[in-house]
Amino acid sequence: MNTVDYLRISLIDRCNFRCQYCMPEGTELDYILQQELLTHQELLTLLKDVFIPVGFRKFRLTGGEPLLRPGVVDLVRAIASLPETQDLAMTTNAFLLAGMAQDLYKAGLRRINISLDSLNPDTFDKIIGNRGRSRWQQTWAGIQAAHQVGFDPLKLNVVVIPGVNDQEVLDLAALTLDRHWHVRFIEFMPIGNAQLFSDRAWVPSAELRQRIRDAFGLVASNIRGNGPADVFQIPGALGTLGFISQMSECFCDRCNRMRLSADGWLRPCLLNETGQIDLKTALRSGVDLEQLRTRVTQLLSLKPEISFKQRDCGTTGSYTRTMSQIGG
Ligand code: GTP
Ligand code: 5AD
Ligand code: SF4
Repeated sequence: MNTVDYLRISLIDRCNFRCQYCMPEGTELDYILQQELLTHQELLTLLKDVFIPVGFRKFRLTGGEPLLRPGVVDLVRAIASLPETQDLAMTTNAFLLAGMAQDLYKAGLRRINISLDSLNPDTFDKIIGNRGRSRWQQTWAGIQAAHQVGFDPLKLNVVVIPGVNDQEVLDLAALTLDRHWHVRFIEFMPIGNAQLFSDRAWVPSAELRQRIRDAFGLVASNIRGNGPADVFQIPGALGTLGFISQMSECFCDRCNRMRLSADGWLRPCLLNETGQIDLKTALRSGVDLEQLRTRVTQLLSLKPEISFKQRDCGTTGSYTRTMSQIGG
């Protein structure tokens, strides 16, 4: 079992997109009330006095859509300047990124992962549930801005859904030919939209690799990321291709992460809430921080067993929370 030193921090459960696979329009979600969100001060206290002392060193800001969180640049600056922070990253849909990329970079963010499920504006709008003026252009502008500002690595996440965007896999893979980008294909998981999952199912990464191999050639890369992606490369390409295959080859035994929800619940696993801790309530009721460190340490010690129980993660059926609620 890996060392668990990576905390995914959800800043907000709201999103400005309504992706079909996550929170399609019409989904009734109970959003977290403003006063229930961890404040910046509470989050920083938890990082400095609980998470860092028990060994966490890598942090990723997620949502919902993290750029919707007021003051996100200040928060990035504060986390980046903690001497123990070894890695600070963000996962975003990039819709608001063009105007924020420079400030985020200056504040100390260096790694950014962006969801981009299609290069075709119509398909993109359909996937993100947009009926008004196309949102593709502004999203693409956000990606370009991140590239120009110098985010490296710049990763694009593609959730592959049969009959929705799987016909674009070669075009998306071709983005890496002349750019230093990492394009990652993610197997669709039964989280969020159970109906779409049962209608469409998912495409195994091995099949995608075969399609790409037939078109361009494909070799395994010796790059090993921080997360669950298996990394490959088209021969001669500047960028890489990652495959996140939680359905076809569960990677729980190399899990290195826990999740903090926007309202302060510490969850040991994406799919399993066993032993979760309500850190916000504890903090607000004035609990001794030493006690919180002990509770988090206990949860860390349970993590191998919790992860082991998720080894059949691809077959556990539908999970009632959406990624926006769990925190990407
Ligand atoms: P890097 O550190 O840059 O490699 O990031 P990452 O892959 O950990 O993060 P990202 O937010 O880009 O997540 C990409 C995808 O990986 C998500 O959309 C999920 O589908 C999947 N994923 C991330 N974390 C987990 C996890 O803990 N369990 C499972 N089953 N899937 C995960
Ligand atoms: N299956 C796989 N990935 C998903 N994401 C959201 N919902 C799902 C799902 N059901 C991805 C988004 C984003 C990341 C944070 O989570 O595309 O890249
Ligand atoms: Fe880790 Fe749970 Fe994700 Fe498996 S499903 S990789 S144990 S968070």
